[in-house]
Amino acid sequence: MPGDGIGKIVLDEAIRVLDAAGFEAEYVHADIGWEFWRKQGNPLPDRTLELLEEHGIGLFGAITSKPKDKADAELDPSLRDKGFVYYSPIVRLRQHFDLDICIRPCRSFEGNPLNFVRRTADGGCAEPMVDAVIFRQNTEGLYGGVEWTDPPQQVYDALMTHPKMAKFADAPKAELAVSTRIFTRHACERIVRAAFEYAKKFGYKSVTICEKPNVIRETSGMLRAVGREIQPSFPGIDLWETNIDAQMMWLTKNPEDYGVLVSGNMFGDIVSDGFAGLVGGLGFACSANLGAKVSIFEPTHGSAPKYAELNPSIVNPIAMILSACMMLDHIDERDRAEKIRVAVAAVVKEGKVRCYDMARLPGGPDALSKGAASTTEMTDAIIARL
Ligand code: NAI
Ligand code: MG
Repeated sequence: MPGDGIGKIVLDEAIRVLDAAGFEAEYVHADIGWEFWRKQGNPLPDRTLELLEEHGIGLFGAITSKPKDKADAELDPSLRDKGFVYYSPIVRLRQHFDLDICIRPCRSFEGNPLNFVRRTADGGCAEPMVDAVIFRQNTEGLYGGVEWTDPPQQVYDALMTHPKMAKFADAPKAELAVSTRIFTRHACERIVRAAFEYAKKFGYKSVTICEKPNVIRETSGMLRAVGREIQPSFPGIDLWETNIDAQMMWLTKNPEDYGVLVSGNMFGDIVSDGFAGLVGGLGFACSANLGAKVSIFEPTHGSAPKYAELNPSIVNPIAMILSACMMLDHIDERDRAEKIRVAVAAVVKEGKVRCYDMARLPGGPDALSKGAASTTEMTDAIIARL
């Protein structure tokens, strides 16, 4: 599923790397993205859902999403006013296949100029190696979509039975916006167990439940309680508990202390972007969305329209390549995944081939003449190492 913009570019690059690593697979193309919204009124056609259902594993580039008014304006004139409504295809994929476990590893590569550095007491600089893996509950919580402005009367009446609603009693119903944060025990158990299993498989010493149970007592409290229940089945792996706000501070002070972290949907989104920023940002941020039957692997970045048309392309393919490695991990091709990661690490450490982001150059057509490597050159360097 190449999708839109740079998604199409980086996915091809990742497949070149998979080929070079000797991974034998047949790749089945599936349509997704803006083009299919414009021409067919559906950015996630049914045939794509069927292909995923059939094959179970998806590699996804990125899509373009636009606000409602723009989406409507760009719809093919023959499809207008026929009831087509734009929904983000990646959000729909997560919901449709119940891809409830999102994994976002954030690991520093030695020699990456984008790595986090810290001032030491003697005025020097320390560059702690970050190796944090965020497990984000991907389907529920604040992004579950159960929300209203001017809620229906029954909802309003039900809410008003809660004593704490007294402070909202004077506000007109039409002026109330309500977004719910619903957690289920089942989903909490799945994400926490997946995190502990991962910690065990990859040798992490701690799992941190990062929420806010002192204030958000019910939902955050449930995730924390589930953490305490599951931890004893994993002797040797400590359970830590942090609050999201404090965690965001600590990750800029001692990010190397954290291993596996688990959060609900929104806090997981926040804390994973925070850690990603310490290890190179969007050019390095990879992810997996795992469900019981279907799993989809994608870079965290979007379609970067401002660079999509540049030829040669300048964007960093590493996030997509590392996402493909997560796919290999998932299907027990761990040695091959590790081989690719070692090749990426070697290229980054050597420092001769750097995309514009790593070279800290402004993105744009002249980045290459200023010394940045193109997307293809970066991939070629990784393949040469392999
Ligand atoms: P974006 O992630 O596409 O790009 C933001 C900026 O990050 C880029 O302009 C570029 O400076 C940098 N960047 C992104 N990928 C990079 C890479 N591989 N190498 C080097 N630099 C990179 O986010 P933006 O611009 O907010 O959104 C563009 C479109 O993508 C929107 O339509 C948005 O809805 C969509 N989007 C899709 C996502 C997905 O498919 N999962 C995720 C995020 C945004
Ligand atoms: Mg995000």
